Amino acid sequence: MYALVTGGSRGIGKAVALRLAQQGYKVIINYQSNQAAAEQTLSEIRQAGGDGELLQFDVSDREAVVSALSEWKQQHPDDYIEVLVNNAGIRCDKLLVWMEPEDFNKVLQTNLYSFYNVTRQLIEPMIRHKNGRIVNVASLSGQHGLAGQCNYSAAKGGLIAATKALALEVGRKNITVNAVAPGFVKTDMVEGLDEAELKKQIPLSRFAQPEEVAAVVCFLVSKDASYITGECISVNGGLYM
Ligand SMILES: NC(=O)c1ccc[n+]([C@@H]2O[C@H](COP(=O)([O-])OP(=O)(O)OC[C@H]3O[C@@H](n4cnc5c(N)ncnc54)[C@H](OP(=O)(O)O)[C@@H]3O)[C@@H](O)[C@H]2O)c1
Repeated sequence: MYALVTGGSRGIGKAVALRLAQQGYKVIINYQSNQAAAEQTLSEIRQAGGDGELLQFDVSDREAVVSALSEWKQQHPDDYIEVLVNNAGIRCDKLLVWMEPEDFNKVLQTNLYSFYNVTRQLIEPMIRHKNGRIVNVASLSGQHGLAGQCNYSAAKGGLIAATKALALEVGRKNITVNAVAPGFVKTDMVEGLDEAELKKQIPLSRFAQPEEVAAVVCFLVSKDASYITGECISVNGGLYM
């Protein structure tokens, strides 16, 4: 049983990878450039008795995705990836008045086009096997909008909409497609934010730990969630209800 976690080397993706490995999946840890972090995650998985492998590619680069996943398929002719967690993402916050085209494009390409790039490669085998689970890591920003994040809100809002559309397409094939929408989670991504100030607005008065998001992702992958599809589950401490 193979599960691919994009951006599985750090932060939320790492917590998801560790948990899926505990559930018996062979986890394919995708990363972009920080190989040491990816190796560290794989070593933690193995120390805990699980197994996995590393697969480097840039999710925003369609050719790189096609090439890496085609090669994986050639090396694993009898296997397919039955769980896909589209998690890799970046932010590049600026008010729209100062946002350059590359700030907008890069965020859309990494957070939204990546959904197309990766899912397009894996959906056919899932359809053939009539089995699959796809979880997209969206954001509160895509539900509510956040100032300074027109690019990121657009990408994550688009990801939530795509989740719903794909769920309609593949439900008959026993494939579920869901999203989670975290609020603020303690990872490298939120470095530089004023946590003390921001947590005053959060009903639970703190940022989430990556494991608290991973628990919801892994629930959506599990048998217990077999009748849930097209959903977006908020994991935000009550920030947006
Ligand atoms: N942290 C939050 O507060 C928060 C809130 C809402 C939603 N989210 C979403 O949750 C997801 C994970 O965020 P995080 O906070 O865990 O981020 P993070 O700690 O910054 O980790 C990002 C991960 O994504 C990988 N990555 C980045 N760009 C990539 C690319 N182009 N191709 C392949 N891998 C790439 C990184 O790999 P390298 O190490 O190789 O760069 C790393 O493994 C993102 O989609 C983010 O938008 C986060």
